[in-house]
Amino acid sequence: MYRIDGLPERVSIYEVGPRDGLQNEPAVVPLEVKAELVERLVDAGLTTIETTSFVHPDWVPQLADASDLLRRIERRPGIRYPVLVPNLRGLDRALEHGVTEIAVFGSATETFAQRNLNRSVDSQFTMFAPVVARALENGVRVRAYVSMCFGDPWEGPVPVSQVVEVGRRLLDLGCFELSLGDTIGVGTPGHVRALIEAFPCGPSRLAVHFHDTYGQALANTLEALRCGITVVDASAGGIGGCPYAKSATGNLATEDLVWMLHGLGIETGVDLESLVATSGWLADRLGRPSPSPVVRALLGKES
Ligand code: HMG
Ligand code: MG
Repeated sequence: MYRIDGLPERVSIYEVGPRDGLQNEPAVVPLEVKAELVERLVDAGLTTIETTSFVHPDWVPQLADASDLLRRIERRPGIRYPVLVPNLRGLDRALEHGVTEIAVFGSATETFAQRNLNRSVDSQFTMFAPVVARALENGVRVRAYVSMCFGDPWEGPVPVSQVVEVGRRLLDLGCFELSLGDTIGVGTPGHVRALIEAFPCGPSRLAVHFHDTYGQALANTLEALRCGITVVDASAGGIGGCPYAKSATGNLATEDLVWMLHGLGIETGVDLESLVATSGWLADRLGRPSPSPVVRALLGKES
């Protein structure tokens, strides 16, 4: 075991495979596959599974079965099953299923706010404010994402100060955690450090959410850990993307993350073998191999 000083003892993995991973799949994934995926992820030791989205079903048809999925899965004690919610209509739908944690998702840039939420950057807060307030009244915890934290496909590089301002406004609504999204995967480690250090709240209320489009996600994660981050978003098998930003490809693969963390002596609670088996099973259902090097290496390994 080769440790590096200054890194956390334990990292909490926020698994987004069933939501971010599947939302971009062109062919509708059967409900029973989604339900089995959630169960298998829990069996593999993941304790936070972003399960689905209560967005407009026409905007993300793949997740239009959100209610059916929540009805179908067994929610086990001690496991968090957050769902994405953009507005009051989405919150009402989520509350019908006794959801105890949601995530709202803002944009740092005007173009993506328009394309993803049909709102300006300013008016996204008008949409989120009553959602967060009503969620908290109902005892529901609220996480927030900021998308396009590093670069935006239409606007180019995004200034750190612009991201910090959007993030601050989301935290001020009452969100317990802010996940910094590199939606199109263009960030590099120095930029990650500059962004994290620019947040007055400090790293304890921040998480990171890297897409691996440019192969930077693991390097960026390591730098985030050095900055004090202990919550990292990842997607089993590295599936994922955003239908409203075509240049967004798969998320950091949970297996690639776990391989690095365990190699560094950092605890995750995840059973890598079981997780890899799940991603192999999912790849068969999706009809293509996992993009994760760790999944491919371990599945292809001769015993
Ligand atoms: P809109 O068209 O402006 O909605 O869309 P509206 O408020 O004008 O309402 C229009 C109609 O839709 C109304 O029905 C509403 O009731 C209905 P009518 O009264 O006309 O009959 N409606 C809904 N129905 C069901 N569920 C709802 C809902 N909301 C309204 N929740 C809206 C605005 C926000 C709804 C839309 O833009 C939307 O759903 N966007 C979601 C897009 C999305 O899911 N993108 C992917 C997730 S973000 C992401 O992946 C990035 C992330 O991973 C981080 C990163 O990588 O950076 C999180
Ligand atoms: Mg994402």
